[in-house]
Amino acid sequence: MSKVIPIDQEYNFEEGMIVSSTDLKGIITYANRKFCEIAGYCKEELVGSNHNMIRHPDMPRAAFEELWSTLHAGKEWEGIVKNLRKDGMYYWVYAYLNYTQSLI
Ligand SMILES: Cc1cc2nc3c(=O)[nH]c(=O)nc-3n(C[C@H](O)[C@H](O)[C@H](O)COP(=O)(O)O)c2cc1C
Repeated sequence: MSKVIPIDQEYNFEEGMIVSSTDLKGIITYANRKFCEIAGYCKEELVGSNHNMIRHPDMPRAAFEELWSTLHAGKEWEGIVKNLRKDGMYYWVYAYLNYTQSLI
């Protein structure tokens, strides 16, 4: 997938719940319709890709290091994340993450 060039324009959305899950390497295993709509990708582009495909360069690397170490410790992580859409715009999410083992 070609590299997305960020543009300084916010993508606003009224409300909605983005739901995603990843494996332990951060590969997306589930994306709901709202995730597709807000990130600007279709489901096929998201599922199977690394979640860092929507990482915005303004986000500090330390935030994700903390996120992953918290999850690996079996704890919940929450925070505000700036994400990069496919069209280069950015959007903010309040993210809540937890570690659950897949039953499959
Ligand atoms: C369930 C879940 C959701 C995530 N959501 C995001 C997200 O919305 N935006 C983001 O940049 N990273 C998200 N991440 C973290 C990415 O996996 C990744 O660590 C981050 O984008 C930084 O990329 P890097 O680890 O390759 O440096 C999420 C991780 C998990 C486990």
